[in-house]
Amino acid sequence: MTTLSFYKSEDFEDLTSYALDELQSQFTAMPKATLEIIKEKNTGDKFPVSIFHQNKAVGFFVLDFGVDKLDLTENENSTLLRSLSINPEYQGKGIGKIAMIILSEFVKENFPECDEVVLAVNFNNKSAYDLYLKCGFKDDGKTREFRNGYQHLLSKRI
Ligand SMILES: CC(C)(COP(=O)(O)OP(=O)(O)OC[C@H]1O[C@@H](n2cnc3c(N)ncnc32)[C@H](O)[C@@H]1OP(=O)(O)O)[C@@H](O)C(=O)NCCC(=O)NCCS
Repeated sequence: MTTLSFYKSEDFEDLTSYALDELQSQFTAMPKATLEIIKEKNTGDKFPVSIFHQNKAVGFFVLDFGVDKLDLTENENSTLLRSLSINPEYQGKGIGKIAMIILSEFVKENFPECDEVVLAVNFNNKSAYDLYLKCGFKDDGKTREFRNGYQHLLSKRI
């Protein structure tokens, strides 16, 4: 069973026990680095979330309510999903897909004013792009050029 829960310090060991290969690591930031930045900036608008599979934290993402989302949408009530990763040992088992489906419920429950999730995915990250579309994200054709090349800008109404 796959569930989502706000990140807790107990999850740190599981979430820092995995590494991504060279290809995948171009597309996302690892939990450790992301948590460090969140702590350092301390803006209070970034919420790390752990993805659990049978009581083990096997993945991670951040819901960012800061201004970066406004590069993707004009909707002030949106959140930017970033730094998604799944422990490679657990990839390909449908966990990422379920996490992105139950995300809507998680956001609605914890941030009732939020009505849209937006994200950016690299043109070369075909597996993640396909996953997002299967989970209800829409591609209206918006793109941007970013650090690692072009990205599709996707959104999901919740
Ligand atoms: C992208 C990622 C989160 C997917 O997680 P996952 O748990 O392995 O994905 P799932 O097993 O739920 O797969 C769901 C869908 O993703 C796609 N997919 C996942 N892995 C794939 C692969 N290696 N090749 C092709 N498609 C793939 C498929 O469309 C799959 O749909 P299907 O089950 O109907 O075939 C994971 O591969 C990952 O952590 N990648 C590195 C970081 C990254 O790219 N993050 C996204 C940044 S925008």
